[in-house]
Amino acid sequence: MKTIIKNGMVVTSGSTFKADILIQGDSITSISSDITPEPSDKIIDAEGQYVFPGGIDVHTHLEWPLMDTETADDFVSGTRAAAVGGITSIINFTKPKKGASLIATQEEWIEKGKKSVIDYGLHAIINEYSDRVLEELPILAETYGVGSIKLFMAYKGEMMVNDLEMYKIMKKAGELGVITNVHAENGDIIDEMIAQALAEGNTDPIYHGYTRPTIMEAEATGRALAIAEAANAPIYIVHVSCSEALEKVVEAKKRGVQAFAETCPQYLVLDISYLDQPNFEGGKYVCSPPLREKWNQDVLWNGLQTGMISVAGSDHCPFRFHDQKAMGKDNFSKIPNGLPGLEDIFSILYHFGVHEGRISLNQFVEIISTNPAKIFGIPKKGDISIGYDADLVILNPNGSRVITSASQYQNVDYNAYEGLEVQGIITNVLSRGEVIVKDGQFIGDAGRGKYLHRNRRHNRDSLFHSPKNDQATETIR
Ligand code: URP
Ligand code: ZN
Ligand code: ZN
Repeated sequence: MKTIIKNGMVVTSGSTFKADILIQGDSITSISSDITPEPSDKIIDAEGQYVFPGGIDVHTHLEWPLMDTETADDFVSGTRAAAVGGITSIINFTKPKKGASLIATQEEWIEKGKKSVIDYGLHAIINEYSDRVLEELPILAETYGVGSIKLFMAYKGEMMVNDLEMYKIMKKAGELGVITNVHAENGDIIDEMIAQALAEGNTDPIYHGYTRPTIMEAEATGRALAIAEAANAPIYIVHVSCSEALEKVVEAKKRGVQAFAETCPQYLVLDISYLDQPNFEGGKYVCSPPLREKWNQDVLWNGLQTGMISVAGSDHCPFRFHDQKAMGKDNFSKIPNGLPGLEDIFSILYHFGVHEGRISLNQFVEIISTNPAKIFGIPKKGDISIGYDADLVILNPNGSRVITSASQYQNVDYNAYEGLEVQGIITNVLSRGEVIVKDGQFIGDAGRGKYLHRNRRHNRDSLFHSPKNDQATETIR
């Protein structure tokens, strides 16, 4: 059976035009001004609606252990929420158990991901250095299509690696064309600041914000970029939250470092005041880096607008409020770090970005779909083009909705964006040609998602040398 999406306004990173889209099997086979249906064809009328390439969220933590607990969404609930929210592919993080091989870990996580309702890839976290890591990286890259790894400069004892370890790992990754995601915060200094705050009896969630200052994010960001430069390796700074850290990325781009930056909806829309609420409400908003002073939001939007920030990822790391966040009721350092966001990232970026005039429709597509596909080497995704996977999101720009945990698919007891009204309603979502969201309701099946075997290097290089990135002298304030 063929499917035709008729009369929609097709939006890609490069253009916006009215067209019909013909889908056969998994793929887009024609894009044309008027495709005549055959009687057996399934028709989706998208008159008055946008048709976007499916969102690609490259920063998720489903089924992910952290701080003696595990995130509240598994690959079923998390990817179902993603689909309803317009995300048709994710790249989740693995997490090796202490002493475990990266290959065994990869196998374990591919198995977990088989429940997914949308396609999923995996970034390999390296939370412990050994010579074996360097031996396993080529196998991960070549046999498992793992084009990206992740290193942490914080979470000492659980995941943090030191500078020399980072250098050795990045050098090997760079030789393989594998990009390194980095969580950039100075873990040593932060831990000292936390100990000091607690010793002074300061236990409330706001102290999470005070003990992880922007300068310690900027310092680690600059150091990570310098190490990547020395190692001649591509680097992707995850969850850039503040102006000082973004300045380090811009400086590195100017020097020619193959550096990319990501920010997240929480840093674009929420601010540090959310941590400072009575009755432990602030605990809901503990994530790292922490929410920042509001003025940083304009800088981050400007970064997206000028191409200095290439991607928005959700950093979906959901913990229930009543029993998981509550682990830190008397000690902010015990609150598991992370916010839910996978279900709402597409809407938030559309509303605060496109609807409120901060970015164009085409920039929106670039940030939520095209750039993630290119940077992380996802074949046949991130665009609406013949031969590409029919991963498509249809959005009615004339409708609006209020975000609320009462109606969410995320398996968590609150929503960080509770009560925000967003313009634009996602009506239909297709994943490789199959309608998995119809009239806003999820109708797909668990287990239909496929593991994404990813490319290395080539697409990313073309993005890095784009004229936009060559304008790295843009002011960012
Ligand atoms: O607070 C966060 N971001 N939790 C998830 C783990 C990480 O640092 O990305
Ligand atoms: Zn992180
Ligand atoms: Zn994260």
